[in-house]
Amino acid sequence: MRTHYCGGVSAADIGQTVVLCGWAHRRRDHGGVIFIDLRDREGMMQVVIDPDTPEAFRLAEDVRSEFVLKIEGLVRPRPAGTENPNMPTGMVELLTKKLDVLNASLTPPFQLDDDNINENIRLQYRYLDLRREPMQQNLKLRYRVSKLMRDYLDAHGFMEVETPMLTRSTPEGARDYLVPSRVHDGMFYALPQSPQLFKQLLMVSGVDRYFQITKCFRDEDLRADRQPEFTQVDLETSFMGEEAIMDLVEGMIRDMMKKAQDIELPAAFPRMTYAEAMNRYGSDKPDMRVTLEIVDVGDAMKDVSFKVFSGPANDPKGRVAALRIPGGAALTRSEIDGYTEFVKIYGAKGLAYIKVNDVSQLNEAGLQSPIVKNLSEAALRAVMERTGAQNGDLIFFGADRAKVVNDALGALRLKIGHEKGHVDGRAWAPLWVVDFPMFEYNEDERRWDALHHPFTAPKDGHEDWLATDPGRCLSKAYDMVLNGWEVGGGSVRIHREDVQEKVFAALNIGEEERREKFGFLLDALQYGAPPHGGLAFGLDRLVTLMAGAESIRDVIAFPKTQRASCLMTNAPNVVDEKQLRELHIRLRNANPADKAA
Ligand code: AMO
Ligand code: AMP
Repeated sequence: MRTHYCGGVSAADIGQTVVLCGWAHRRRDHGGVIFIDLRDREGMMQVVIDPDTPEAFRLAEDVRSEFVLKIEGLVRPRPAGTENPNMPTGMVELLTKKLDVLNASLTPPFQLDDDNINENIRLQYRYLDLRREPMQQNLKLRYRVSKLMRDYLDAHGFMEVETPMLTRSTPEGARDYLVPSRVHDGMFYALPQSPQLFKQLLMVSGVDRYFQITKCFRDEDLRADRQPEFTQVDLETSFMGEEAIMDLVEGMIRDMMKKAQDIELPAAFPRMTYAEAMNRYGSDKPDMRVTLEIVDVGDAMKDVSFKVFSGPANDPKGRVAALRIPGGAALTRSEIDGYTEFVKIYGAKGLAYIKVNDVSQLNEAGLQSPIVKNLSEAALRAVMERTGAQNGDLIFFGADRAKVVNDALGALRLKIGHEKGHVDGRAWAPLWVVDFPMFEYNEDERRWDALHHPFTAPKDGHEDWLATDPGRCLSKAYDMVLNGWEVGGGSVRIHREDVQEKVFAALNIGEEERREKFGFLLDALQYGAPPHGGLAFGLDRLVTLMAGAESIRDVIAFPKTQRASCLMTNAPNVVDEKQLRELHIRLRNANPADKAA
């Protein structure tokens, strides 16, 4: 139907007759001459319709926003003084010879060039939202990123293998999406939380290097960086250790970001242990661009009269830590109150602080704070020395269970760091976090949970602690962190059945349950399973960061809301009785379908 994309016409085409197809982005009537900005995937072209072509002119008078047009015309230079150097097609315009209206459009529910459209409306009319230029850019970027990663993996001998969507639960730590079976009364498939077990079995099969760009499904609390279905660039290799795997995938990210957006990442990503990340940043995915750091002061607070500090300082599960804000003495009372409210989200009971007026006077004369009188001079000296406090600074404190302190001060560090500009100016700060613990104690359930997943190998020499001291075991897991987002995670796996059994035992998974849930894996490990390991990247997260978007919803064509619904199709929806009956399902409450009817 057409000879060019709207955005593909340039000064080189002057004098040519071209045919364009696209949408009427804007129409302006300039007393006798009509201008239409015609838009397609590749950009915008200014079209002129003058009364010398009466039929086209008559049709153009009725054209409204988002009408679909086919226009044949002559490419000519824009009149002197009306060029727009900011547009790729800004030096030319199209003088219409013939205009066809291929389709009309209702008045769109929003202006396509509005930057401030309510997200629910955008999601309801997603097909219109996706016509908008920033969304077109995001879709293109996403395609390019996945293509580049695919090419890299292909060049490195990885082959794509598809794995089932109707399967059984893979423990990645979220709730499963279940699919009832019609054929098997009372039975359910689970949608995969990841292809984890299948890719390990492919290693047992001798595939050697597997990858897949695939959907994963997790029913968990949604946030800006989480969707119920999301896409992983998932990979697994045989006969490679942690270092080699990290190098390989680091190479993939470096290569992809260079080719996609000319981003130069450092030649070797820094590495940090989990323990150090938690201590210094209160997080296992620290944003290294933020220059603020958390320091431990618990050992100096054991004997102070301030119970809020001495309590956690003497509790093995407690932590007392300080966060220095350079120049923070200038914070207003209401700002401090705001931060105190903010940390409550993370369970903190308060946010003690000291304004450092004169660091040489370790008392109420030099340090302004309601808590100074309850801290010894030795404790105050330790705080000032360890934080490196200077006059004019402010020091915040967290004292609680270590998890609460880490969550609260970790989040506060990011908030103040970004709000007050305590950042180092780097655009990209990649990091590997390594040496994760194997297990994390679940206080509510009083048992150990796998920190990564139960197939992660313990570090060499740590196997013996699986039975005796699980909390001490470190794993061969690694996470890639980019600007404070966990963009990928993986590990070397257990390839020996006896070790896998020990890990299940540490997780308090009984023998019967092991057989029932993981029998196929335990069997496979006994038929010559090679040493193997891998990783999965969150494609949505990577693209979100690269697009500079706020939410992963902006880089997913048809995402779900925070409540896991699709506002366009209205999924999830009610189903009729017949379908339920076939699936052997009876609803406990009245079927909403009956109410609707
Ligand atoms: P993990 O659970 O860490 O590892 O997931 C890998 C990566 O997927 C992304 N991700 C998500 N993105 C959007 N929405 C979600 N709900 C979501 N959950 C996770 C993250 C994360 O780093 N099988 C292992 C990988 C392995 O061990 O090889 C796994 O799934 O960017
Ligand atoms: P209080 O003695 O409860 O009035 O608290 C004195 C100061 O300590 C206030 O600034 C509180 O915000 C702060 N505070 C209270 N509990 C904690 C805590 N668990 N961690 C850090 N600061 C706290």
